[in-house]
Amino acid sequence: MGDLPTECLDADDAGLQRAAAILKAGGLVAFPTETVYGLGASARDDRAVARIFEAKGRPRFNPLIAHAADVEAARGIARFTPEADRLAAAFWPGPLTLVLPIREGAGVSPLVTAGLGTVALRVPAHPLAQRLLRAVGGPVAAPSANPSGRLSPTRADDVIGTLGGRIEAVLDGGPCPVGLESTIVGFDGGARLLRPGGLPAEAIEACLGAPLSARTEAGAPTSPGQLASHYAPEAGLRLNAEAAMPGEVMLGFGDVAGDLSLSHGGDLTEAAANLFHHLRKLDQRGAARIAVAPIPDHGLGRAINDRLRRAAAPRG
Ligand code: TXA
Ligand code: MG
Repeated sequence: MGDLPTECLDADDAGLQRAAAILKAGGLVAFPTETVYGLGASARDDRAVARIFEAKGRPRFNPLIAHAADVEAARGIARFTPEADRLAAAFWPGPLTLVLPIREGAGVSPLVTAGLGTVALRVPAHPLAQRLLRAVGGPVAAPSANPSGRLSPTRADDVIGTLGGRIEAVLDGGPCPVGLESTIVGFDGGARLLRPGGLPAEAIEACLGAPLSARTEAGAPTSPGQLASHYAPEAGLRLNAEAAMPGEVMLGFGDVAGDLSLSHGGDLTEAAANLFHHLRKLDQRGAARIAVAPIPDHGLGRAINDRLRRAAAPRG
């Protein structure tokens, strides 16, 4: 762990101004979005972006999402296709990331795109993220604010617990309402689902009036959210469990009871918001394995199952 005195900033004017000043000076600030906390750096500053990779222990070939305050700012960075225009109009600001061809002279550090010809763009809806982006006045690169491969943070305390000492500040906006990372859509040969997430794929398909294509393994960049093992707690995971076995703690859902439940009423929105936090809390009990109740594979359940499968995958 590093030895920076990580500041915990309140979600007031003073906190926001301080967070923006640190970002503009090349520092790292974790900030809340509606999905998860992001680890922000000015996307225009090579040195600052390089420090994101250091703080997370993230491989450099994994590109980052650039966050913009609004669609106009995003248009200055990438060229939108007609499908991208429709999705942006329908779902921004919100938990959707679009991967689009980067504009020449966009002024985004090549470390953000890992040298690819495309850039991942998102306009977050969280009011604090919005105010921060406007105060910074430029794009902010931000992966989830966790050490690479581990559970994403949905509380300021989760960030302090793992990245404290390695970053300048955390802006505390309380729990993230969605709880899962954004849905990522690319446009390589038609709209393609690159990562299921906080915006259900069904909503995107309804907007486009056509099914999304699946991610092709061949063309996919090797990025952490797409690696088999990711989003992992310390404990192993056993999925689709109806009850705990000896030595396990149990994460319930609906009628399947547990030590904690993602949602007693079987509500997928509530389950998504609880997922990473409950996994963290069960992990802290020190059991060798966490058993997880079956989760229906539609709507947000698809993204929840995607994260659970990666958390359960054999570790590399
Ligand atoms: O909700 C979220 O998306 C959060 C918040 C902070 O915005 N961010 C997040 O970032 O989840 P990260 O770095 O953990 O995941 C970004 C993913 C990478 O796994 C990578 O797959 C994809 O975005 N990505 C970024 N640039 C890309 C590109 N040019 N082509 C394909 N995928 C890209
Ligand atoms: Mg991540």
